[in-house]
Amino acid sequence: MTAAIAPSAFAFPAPQPISTPALLNLLVVDDERTVREACREVAASLGYRTTAAESGEQALRMIDGQNVDVILLDLKLHGFAGLDVLRALKAHRPEMEVVVVTGNGSLETAVQAMKSGAYDYVTKPFSMEQLRLLLERVSSHLRLKTENRMLREKLKSKQGFGNIIGRAPEMDKLYRIIAKAAHSVHPVLILGESGTGKEMVARAIHYSGPFRDKPFIPVDCGSLVPTLIESELLGYVKGAFTGAVQSKEGLLAIAEGGTVFLDEIGELPVDLQAKMLRAIQEKEIRPVGSTKRVSINVRILAATNRDLEHAVAQGAFRRDLYFRLNVLSVRIPPLRERRQDIPLLATAFLERVSQSSSRPVELSDDAMKALLDYDWPGNVRELENCLERCCAIGSGPVIHIVDLPSAITGAPIHLTDLKADARILPIAEVEKRTILGAIAHLNGDKLTAAKMLGIGKTTLYRKLKEYGAEL
Ligand SMILES: Nc1ncnc2c1ncn2[C@@H]1O[C@H](COP(=O)(O)OP(=O)(O)OP(=O)(O)O)[C@@H](O)[C@H]1O
Ligand SMILES: [Mg+2]
Repeated sequence: MTAAIAPSAFAFPAPQPISTPALLNLLVVDDERTVREACREVAASLGYRTTAAESGEQALRMIDGQNVDVILLDLKLHGFAGLDVLRALKAHRPEMEVVVVTGNGSLETAVQAMKSGAYDYVTKPFSMEQLRLLLERVSSHLRLKTENRMLREKLKSKQGFGNIIGRAPEMDKLYRIIAKAAHSVHPVLILGESGTGKEMVARAIHYSGPFRDKPFIPVDCGSLVPTLIESELLGYVKGAFTGAVQSKEGLLAIAEGGTVFLDEIGELPVDLQAKMLRAIQEKEIRPVGSTKRVSINVRILAATNRDLEHAVAQGAFRRDLYFRLNVLSVRIPPLRERRQDIPLLATAFLERVSQSSSRPVELSDDAMKALLDYDWPGNVRELENCLERCCAIGSGPVIHIVDLPSAITGAPIHLTDLKADARILPIAEVEKRTILGAIAHLNGDKLTAAKMLGIGKTTLYRKLKEYGAEL
């Protein structure tokens, strides 16, 4: 039955206009040939595939061997009483919808039929227009039923879209918005604290949509210097600036037909904000140093952990660009607002480590409780890093509460342990030394450094900018 409704190529079928039911199968059960013919005609004009049966017995035989979504059942049939036929049909194929046809003045039968599982009823004689409206209503009901079932199936598994894990009701809402956004061409603004999975959501929107075979290009507006973001996004012509020895196509053009994901959009310099607005509105860009405009065909997704409305009020972010990006927006809940997902996420991360190291690792009950009680300011990324670190450091098959960082367990730090280093430094200096030390230790690998320090890469780059360190 579902095959008749869902195009099934995508996780969520695009809603179809109600007036064009997508090939549903109708079985008309009536002993009058003229009625069967008339119904067949109306149903066919609506795009239904129609078959007919003269009796309840024949209908029961037919539903065994063929696809039937909707049955139009005359209750005054010869043979068994109409209501018994209805009950038998529903018992056999509960997912089918049955519309009963009753005689004039037999409201009681209609009520009985609805109680026995009929979807609706129509009284004889009925006009073709009545029948048309009824069939339209059934098809839209069936479509919704399919969509809901698919959504439930998706939510039942621990994986949502792509690799997104989460079953909390807030995530359910998120999946619905992703499904909707995937089939839209408008920009989407993805909001969420650091480490909540903004990039994952952007990928899910792109890869669940009809253009998933086209490129998905992430651009980190927070980590690139302004002139570099501009030339990366818009491209440049030969000689546009020192070092531009040959022309280069911009990412907005390279992504042709696909998606450009502007991460940390709040960091986009103001003059570039104007150019992005033009790119979205006019669908064209002017590469750096060029006098010619180039048409682009790209979908923009943007993310930020900043309060953009506040930035707009402060004049740091263009209001018009904000409105343009905010056509559709999705907020990813922080982990502390969906604690019930912590065990699910923790298990998935440990499973991944176990698989890659061929060493099964699990959490003790008290360790799991500590994870559930902690506030996770760094969200899912912090949880992921924390467990990876525990697995890397520990060697046993079980992570106990003592293996967790003291920030999570709230274990007191013993002052005597810290006395060895007698120098007293300002916190900011300690932070700077730790960050620069980690990067030096990792031979300049900033991404791994950010990961090991348990901070987002954007935060790391921002700190480096503050220190005046070379990017
Ligand atoms: N719901 C989730 N299910 C599984 N993994 C997740 C989920 N959310 C986040 N992660 C993991 O957490 C890490 C951070 O995710 P991501 O980079 O998408 O977050 P972000 O919001 O873009 O972070 P930032 O603001 O720091 O850039 C990734 O390794 C990602 O795989
Ligand atoms: Mg990100």
